[in-house]
Amino acid sequence: MGRVLIRDLEAHIQKKVRLRGWLNTVRPFGKLTFLLLRDRTGLIQVVIENKDELKKISNLQPGSILTVEGEAISSPSSIRAIEITQPTITVEHPIHEVPPIEYYKSELRSDLEVILDHRPIALRNVQIQAVFKLQAEIAHAYQLYMHDQVGAVEYFAPNIIGASSEGGAEFFNVDYFGYTATLAQSSQLYKQIMVGVNERVFALMPFFRAEPSHTTRHLSEGKQLEFEMGFFDHWHEILDIQEGCLKFIVSHLHKHCGPELAALGHDIVRAPQGTPFPRLTFAEAQELYYKRTKIDERHEPDLSPAAERELCAWALETHGTDLVFITDWKMEKRPFYAQPSQDGLTNTFDLLCAGTEITSGGQRRHTYESMVEGLKMKSMNPDNFADYLSIFKYGMPPHGGFGMGLERLTMTLLKLKNIREASLFPSDTKRIAGNRIKAKIFFGGENIRNEILRLCHHHKMDIQHLVHEGTPTSQDSARIRGTKMEEGIKALILRGKNTKKNYQFNISSHLKLDMKAVADLVGEKCDFEDPAVIFERFGLTLGSIPPFGPLLNLDTYFDEEIKKEPRSCFNCGLITESIVMPTKDLIILIDPKWGRFSKA
Ligand code: 4AD
Ligand code: MG
Repeated sequence: MGRVLIRDLEAHIQKKVRLRGWLNTVRPFGKLTFLLLRDRTGLIQVVIENKDELKKISNLQPGSILTVEGEAISSPSSIRAIEITQPTITVEHPIHEVPPIEYYKSELRSDLEVILDHRPIALRNVQIQAVFKLQAEIAHAYQLYMHDQVGAVEYFAPNIIGASSEGGAEFFNVDYFGYTATLAQSSQLYKQIMVGVNERVFALMPFFRAEPSHTTRHLSEGKQLEFEMGFFDHWHEILDIQEGCLKFIVSHLHKHCGPELAALGHDIVRAPQGTPFPRLTFAEAQELYYKRTKIDERHEPDLSPAAERELCAWALETHGTDLVFITDWKMEKRPFYAQPSQDGLTNTFDLLCAGTEITSGGQRRHTYESMVEGLKMKSMNPDNFADYLSIFKYGMPPHGGFGMGLERLTMTLLKLKNIREASLFPSDTKRIAGNRIKAKIFFGGENIRNEILRLCHHHKMDIQHLVHEGTPTSQDSARIRGTKMEEGIKALILRGKNTKKNYQFNISSHLKLDMKAVADLVGEKCDFEDPAVIFERFGLTLGSIPPFGPLLNLDTYFDEEIKKEPRSCFNCGLITESIVMPTKDLIILIDPKWGRFSKA
């Protein structure tokens, strides 16, 4: 008997079928036992009565590979209104290990960090699986639209390249046989080269960005949906194609992804076919933001994330769509290749979707002289762009296009909260391909002091390093350093009552720790860690601990009061040595979590 997929069971009612898949869950119910079986197309309930059959699965964990032969019957109260009865089960591969995460539940309630820690298994969760099936359909719809409706030709550009394609500092260098190469920030230069060949081109390309900020919308590796075209009459034709493309993608999802959208469990973005995306110039957008909120950002060169959210809220309220174009950006915020218009503006646009930029694009400079001028204006060296510049010497039409982040698009279309939910194995400042970058843990007062000094010098920070007699109390420290009590930082190492995890809490040395506020912040009650354990784990004695929790691989919290003093002082690993430094620099080095957890 051939294998039947769960999706196709409807055509086999009252017939014998053979299914293969993973054991998802087992639930006893009186004399019956319900087994949920999962294959690539979904879940189905198998009803077990026979004791011998039950015995076969009684010690199995989710993930066990099974073959089930039984009868498909209709059962209105079950998923898909079908169940499998009278099964004969073959255990192809038993699993006895309990999975580290409850992926087999319909909704995985774990924290995103925990989900990412167990990514390969968590991806099996039906809701998470749906996100990535939808992402695949987004990419597929993009290719269909570009190929069939726009008549563009797909290109495959290199990712290890000779120079930054977008300027700025957000790129990675790699050692390339002793030379320095760059990981492509986009395929910008290559798509323009390909316009000189095929006029209309598109791609799905990886991009790499050395994005130092840890936000909910930045990754260091992702995919861009790229498009570029030549010979338009007006550069807004690029916006028309972008708009058509987005509406096509959204309607494709509605047409072809019913089960995945249902598994997602909530609405997706609104982009109705008949409703144009509103188009505002950058100046109009700033004015509108000011009018709606009275927050004045009219002299800023960029839109703040709050302004982006507000403009999308406006688009939904007044136009019934979650998308809005912002055009005519200032030159200073656009890359060297952006086509200038007048008054320091450019023929460029961003597309915002549900509060976040998903696309940047626009018209490009298309003469050799103009492009060299653009590079020089951004202090970039034209010699590094010889290949690219050659196309302008030998004839380029007016052209332009856009780059749309696949993960940003997935996040905003599906209304996910964090871009990491839209990347199978996200890389960011804290993870490489989903795995936590293991913090290098420093042990012992002298090593810790050395590392703190190295960090401060590396960042050219203006610090004082004091060597003095031992300072066991905060009062002693302030007196001997000649600083105020308020400038001193007390670094406390706590232990969570449930998780047994260590945290570092830092407060001004004239204040006390509010344990209730601490518990609210970390979600569990905490105690002070035993000094003997601190010495054993970190090689630090009481009174010597610096506010440098990250060097000890600790979640590190700063009390808001710390911000009030421009200078901060602390023992730097030894009770006989202190550092006095600008508080703002300390904050840059630590990048702590913030809260209010001190009392007088
Ligand atoms: O705005 P960006 O940097 O523009 C370009 O790369 C141009 N070459 C596009 C063009 O054709 N003129 O990147 C384009 C899009 C962003 O709008 C965003 O969706 C995504 O790529 N993107 C990122 N997504 C996640 N994390 C990052 N660090 C991203 N950087 C860009
Ligand atoms: Mg952009």
